[in-house]
Amino acid sequence: MQHEPPRLALLLTRLAFIFCGGSVYRAFADRLPLGGGEQVLDFGCGMGTVAYYAAKKLPQGHLSCLDISERWLCACRKTLRNDKNITFLHAEAPALPQAHFDVIYCHFVLHDIPDRELERVMPALVSALRSGGRLIFREPLDEAEKLGLIKGLAAQGGLSLQDSRVTDVPLMGNALESIYFKP
Ligand SMILES: C[S@@+](CC[C@H](N)C(=O)[O-])C[C@H]1O[C@@H](n2cnc3c(N)ncnc32)[C@H](O)[C@@H]1O
Repeated sequence: MQHEPPRLALLLTRLAFIFCGGSVYRAFADRLPLGGGEQVLDFGCGMGTVAYYAAKKLPQGHLSCLDISERWLCACRKTLRNDKNITFLHAEAPALPQAHFDVIYCHFVLHDIPDRELERVMPALVSALRSGGRLIFREPLDEAEKLGLIKGLAAQGGLSLQDSRVTDVPLMGNALESIYFKP
């Protein structure tokens, strides 16, 4: 139960998805570097707010939605009930296959993970990426220390920064959005 959200959190996220889905989640999905045939991982998918839009950009690809919480994952299954070619993973990062994904994205996930755990999660995400793959995250800008740790771990994993921007996210404030490349 440690990772399970209160039902109110699910309700509030569902409302944000209904009323701000386009400006918050689709805007992010639209900027993902997808051609249509990639193997993609939504790490910390929650109820599938971004996955709902990302899935439609992968007609020949595959989307894996992973969450540590069974309750969020169950909500994600409902959000994506009409989409094919999706795998739902109730798992943690170390369980991921190596060199498998072309794109891994994390939308408002990494800042919530305690430092010790992040030190295990980031290397697992890096090794789950194929060479030539990209890791993309969007995290609150005011989490300066956590962002510093995330950037440091990305550099330690041999990733290089390809693009970075600050976006003003409705309801959530300014966020840093970065794309890292695995050589
Ligand atoms: C703030 S929510 C964001 C959900 C979704 N990405 C979105 O933007 O709507 C953070 C999500 O990350 C998940 N999460 C937190 N730590 C995790 C971990 N170590 N591994 C996998 N998922 C995790 C939580 O269960 C939750 O669903």
